[in-house]
Amino acid sequence: MHKVLIDCDPGIDDALAITLAHGSPSLEIVGITTVGGNVDLHLTTANALALREFLDLGDVPITPGSAGALLRERIHAARVHGASGLADVILPEPVRTVADGHAADFIIDTLRAAPGEITLVAVGPLTNVALAVRREPRIVEWARSLVIMGGSYTRGNTTPAAEFNIHADPEAAAIVFGAGWQVTMVPLDVTLTALVTSEVLRRMENLGRLSDLVVPCCRYYGVVTAVGGPAIHDACAVAYVIDPSLMTVVPAVVEVETLGRHTAGMTVTDFNVGDRTPNALVATSIDVPRFWDLVVEAFGRVGERLG
Ligand code: BDR
Ligand code: CA
Repeated sequence: MHKVLIDCDPGIDDALAITLAHGSPSLEIVGITTVGGNVDLHLTTANALALREFLDLGDVPITPGSAGALLRERIHAARVHGASGLADVILPEPVRTVADGHAADFIIDTLRAAPGEITLVAVGPLTNVALAVRREPRIVEWARSLVIMGGSYTRGNTTPAAEFNIHADPEAAAIVFGAGWQVTMVPLDVTLTALVTSEVLRRMENLGRLSDLVVPCCRYYGVVTAVGGPAIHDACAVAYVIDPSLMTVVPAVVEVETLGRHTAGMTVTDFNVGDRTPNALVATSIDVPRFWDLVVEAFGRVGERLG
């Protein structure tokens, strides 16, 4: 089993990413940490708690972390994800609560306990991961890998230059990209090619109780048509961990812009690495039909378990 620790801000596509991980026979979720991002930390945490019980994740610990960016005013994306962060879905009130401690310490302790075994999958602003790597720089050696959904090399979605997760905390992202590990970056450029079309949505409609979560989430996230629909960005990062052959990845040197008036949060991606050590492996394409097969099959397994 490939162990994953998911740092997230659920968030519609975060919820779908957790569902994908849970439904994948090759992955084991060893922990979920939450960060303020799409909505406030208390909501991303409440959503993670509700998802743990709705999806029957067992005793996976959920540890909240940073409410806001290291240095900047907090931004959010409630307009995209809904006021609660989970579209218009109302999940049953969870019974169990969060684990003690801060997400950054949970990340450190969990990676320390199993060096080389756990992939950290970060699909929200990188604040918790930056704090963790600053508190304990050896996590870059202990992590099996770090896979993020974030950044872009052609366009942004929050500003013309910047993708949301990086724009929300550029200083944290700069710390993470500069920490000495090779960050696998699944950028917007790639996630925006895998869209929930009406055909994809149809395949999610007969999943029993799970359909009550995934179908309204997808519909809320964007207009679904025969040829287009929303991208479920964060699920792409989990899909890469499950099956790296789904994507082409290219070594690059990525610098995060923290100073630009119009470009803060831009991931300046140089594929001309030359004799420098690439600090990133950047996904540049995804096999879309295989991605959806993977997602729908994993959702099917979860759906069957939930009834
Ligand atoms: C990313 O931003 C968030 O709104 C999503 O959850 C995803 O992680 C896409 O830019
Ligand atoms: Ca997210």
